[in-house]
Amino acid sequence: MIPRNQLDLRKFVAPEFICGRGALELAGRYARNFGMKQVLLVTDRGVRAAGWAGAVADSLTEAGVSFTVFDAISPNPRSRQVMVGAEVYVAEECNGIITVGGGSPMDCAKGIGIAGSSRRDILGFEGIDRVSVPTPPLICIPTTAGSSADVSQFAIITDETRKRKVAIVSKMIVPDISLLDPEPLTTMPRELTVDTGMDTLSHAVEAYVSNASSPMTDVHALEAIRLLTSALPAAIAEPENLDLRFSTLLASLHAGLAFSNASLGAVHAMAHSLGGAYDLSHGRCNALLLEHVMAANYGAASDRYDRIGAIIGGGETTPAERVAAFRRTLGITETLAAAGVREDAIPALAAAAYADPCMVTNPHNLTCEEIERIYDDAL
Ligand SMILES: [Fe+2]
Repeated sequence: MIPRNQLDLRKFVAPEFICGRGALELAGRYARNFGMKQVLLVTDRGVRAAGWAGAVADSLTEAGVSFTVFDAISPNPRSRQVMVGAEVYVAEECNGIITVGGGSPMDCAKGIGIAGSSRRDILGFEGIDRVSVPTPPLICIPTTAGSSADVSQFAIITDETRKRKVAIVSKMIVPDISLLDPEPLTTMPRELTVDTGMDTLSHAVEAYVSNASSPMTDVHALEAIRLLTSALPAAIAEPENLDLRFSTLLASLHAGLAFSNASLGAVHAMAHSLGGAYDLSHGRCNALLLEHVMAANYGAASDRYDRIGAIIGGGETTPAERVAAFRRTLGITETLAAAGVREDAIPALAAAAYADPCMVTNPHNLTCEEIERIYDDAL
């Protein structure tokens, strides 16, 4: 591992954001402030059915801003869906994007912004700082507490032909403003609450042990772990409790600020590989991998993992065991095999994970064989 020095140069990028009850209703006002005349409202059918896209639409109408809805988006958004959205963006002569939903609509909206303004295939922007054209103004309204696409400089798009996830990392796709309202979280089903919560925890843990962490990202990562581990089980028990939902949203915000600037690690690299090959829930993939990656990485960042373990608590157990116990209390008790992953797929999964940009900041330089062993442990 590269020794950290707090004097190392680091930058910290964050969007403007407003948190609190009623934030969603500010969409129209901010669209007008950004000079949006014709908005592409990017969402998905579930969020539409729950009424949250309609609430944003009402706010736009009240502010006198026209919009076109684009909701043809699946979980793990595909590059083809991004390109269809970009065509609609251009055909409708939009000059701004508002996205309301979880990580999938938000990532897709970021992709549409890039593809719509550059008129190029979204898959050509894979990697770090490859977006050179300015993207349209973007307002994000998250309806889950996990992906943190609403504050991050990341967009994850699935290349459906090669069955792999492509990470696009660029300051250009940091939203212009995010409106963080706890109310939309109250309609999340239990499983989505659990999975997105484990995504938050994975973001915070990976950012805290990342080779690119800094004193600024550390503060946010540790606060995210504290908030999430105390609020998530209670929020699951009381899904309509706005205070608890807001705590999980704040945890996601802190984790997002941490990982957007410190990047991630092997958990996400391996989850991207799994999600691309098997179209599994991103948060669930992280949940099934996190403790195994922590155990494999422990020697490279033991002080940091011990600090994480101390926050979670759990007697005479290792930090990885404490995360495993936490996961079980949320009802996640299966393994990768139960999710449909086959042993003979592991070498290909490991090769894709090894090449993922998130692997660069993992505290331990994992070999392909070590990655295979971690998949095997999680099987
Ligand atoms: Fe994630």
